[in-house]
Amino acid sequence: MEFLWISPMRIQVTRMLLLLLAAALMCHKGVEGRKARILDTFEYSAISCRHHSASITDFGGVGDGKTSNTKAFKDAIENLSQYASDGGSQLFVPAGKWLTGSFSLISHFTLYLHKDAVLLASQDVNEWPVLKALPSYGRGRDAAAGRFQSLIFGTNLTDVIVTGDNGTIDGQGAFWWQQFHKGKLKYTRPYLIEIMFSDNIQISNLTLLNSPSWNVHPVYSSNILVQGITIIAPVTSPNTDGINPDSCTNTRIEDCYIVSGDDCVAVKSGWDEYGIAFGMPTKQLVIRRLTCISPYSATIALGSEMSGGIQDVRAEDITAINTESGVRIKTAVGRGGYVKDIYVRRVTMHTMKWAFWMTGNYGSHADKGYDPNALPVIEGINYRDMVADNVSMAARLEGISGDAFKGICISNVTIGLSAKHKKVPWTCADIEGTTYGVTPTPCELLPDQGTEKTCDFPEESLPIDQVEFQKCSYRMSYM
Ligand SMILES: *[C@@H]1O[C@H](CO)[C@@H](O)[C@H](O)[C@H]1NC(C)=O
Ligand SMILES: *[C@@H]1O[C@H](CO)[C@@H](O)[C@H](O)[C@H]1NC(C)=O
Ligand SMILES: *[C@@H]1O[C@H](CO)[C@@H](O)[C@H](O)[C@H]1NC(C)=O
Ligand SMILES: *[C@@H]1O[C@H](CO)[C@@H](O)[C@H](O)[C@H]1NC(C)=O
Ligand SMILES: *[C@@H]1O[C@H](CO)[C@@H](O)[C@H](O)[C@H]1NC(C)=O
Ligand SMILES: *[C@@H]1O[C@H](CO)[C@@H](O)[C@H](O)[C@H]1NC(C)=O
Repeated sequence: MEFLWISPMRIQVTRMLLLLLAAALMCHKGVEGRKARILDTFEYSAISCRHHSASITDFGGVGDGKTSNTKAFKDAIENLSQYASDGGSQLFVPAGKWLTGSFSLISHFTLYLHKDAVLLASQDVNEWPVLKALPSYGRGRDAAAGRFQSLIFGTNLTDVIVTGDNGTIDGQGAFWWQQFHKGKLKYTRPYLIEIMFSDNIQISNLTLLNSPSWNVHPVYSSNILVQGITIIAPVTSPNTDGINPDSCTNTRIEDCYIVSGDDCVAVKSGWDEYGIAFGMPTKQLVIRRLTCISPYSATIALGSEMSGGIQDVRAEDITAINTESGVRIKTAVGRGGYVKDIYVRRVTMHTMKWAFWMTGNYGSHADKGYDPNALPVIEGINYRDMVADNVSMAARLEGISGDAFKGICISNVTIGLSAKHKKVPWTCADIEGTTYGVTPTPCELLPDQGTEKTCDFPEESLPIDQVEFQKCSYRMSYM
């Protein structure tokens, strides 16, 4: 490990120019096959800077796209764990293709990917440990037994960062999607990044490609920042959700661009009787400046697993293009829980099937043990200041008979219908609410009361908006 100097300085949120001062110095002149040492200087903003830094190459890592680096990652992180109480540590991944199976992060730790670094997920199932089902789900999503640990995994941590200068994590998901379609999976497919039971998490400035399943899954955690993430997967790939905050408090997702085969952001909190028993909601969530392309799914989905409750979600400055729906609430009899105090504003939508969609009969139960009397409470849903064009149907809003979705408010929304739009632009059942200045004219259950009023959007900010960044500067010499 070669550690030259690091000087963390507190400055404003904006990141300064990356200084890439790469100088190649030959270690032993004239010795053939010797790799040049690289001197690299870089800076980025983070919730914490680290006193110690090492490169994966110090631990035998080989970036040839063929050699497995699983052991190198494990050894490196094991070695760096000695610094947890001595200023923390950073593991640097240089340019190259780094094949690896699943590995686990530690507290007070940063994984940093160079802009030309690609982590390639192994397709050897022996490189993926199997974990128990999540307690709030009771079973895996693909198979009743356990689930493969995510490529980058963390549990019971504090202060953990996965970032880079837009370096890449490639899940090589085609292998897993085939197994899924053939019904051959013994365990639920792995995610790319999953952090559970943790606090103070930053996941930023990365490109995530072709995840086997969900991309980013913070679960049972708090104080989470997801920023500047590009997520790309084929729009037909199964369950490649973008970012899924699940039973999390105080989360901020911003400046993300997502093209995927499932919901771009899916807010969750456990499944049926397991989620009710676990009882951990997702609350205080901010989503801003999200661009989503997902022809078969939603820009922002709430549910369908919402049995621990979802409360206080604020989404703004969202763009959806060629996406099935804008905001979608998905739930069912047996889920229990609640979805309340949801605020969405400034959404632009182009080419959509439904601008708004609420589904009370989503079904999809964990098992037959769900409680048919566990009715979800859907209340206080506020949508405002939106423009859409080329939309097949303005809204399809279906609550639950005897359990109406209440307090729906939609204001200042103009939806341009497509040439081949449905005859009736709104279908509504088992819902209650009001609209103000909405085009085309909403259904009778949502009477338009004129343009004097607007729907709520909270003025005061959430604690996650107060997070302070530091400017971290590193100078490293590595092979
Ligand atoms: C791991 O840490 C020790 C210090 O405790 C250090 O001496 C050693 O060189 C490190 N291993 C590697 C491969 O860098
Ligand atoms: C991510 O990159 C953007 C643009 O390069 C930069 O403005 C921002 O500060 C970076 N964010 C983090 C958390 O590194
Ligand atoms: C992590 O924390 C959870 C919740 O506090 C606890 O149930 C679990 O045993 C912990 N796991 C580990 C590996 O420490
Ligand atoms: C990051 O890389 C992706 C994929 O190459 C690209 O589409 C995106 O624009 C890049 N983001 C930034 C901030 O450079
Ligand atoms: C209505 O929404 C549009 C954005 O869609 C916004 O530009 C405009 O200011 C809003 N009007 C009012 C009165 O808030
Ligand atoms: C409108 O939507 C249809 C699909 O419903 C699509 O084929 C067409 O290209 C879109 N038109 C524009 C102008 O985006």
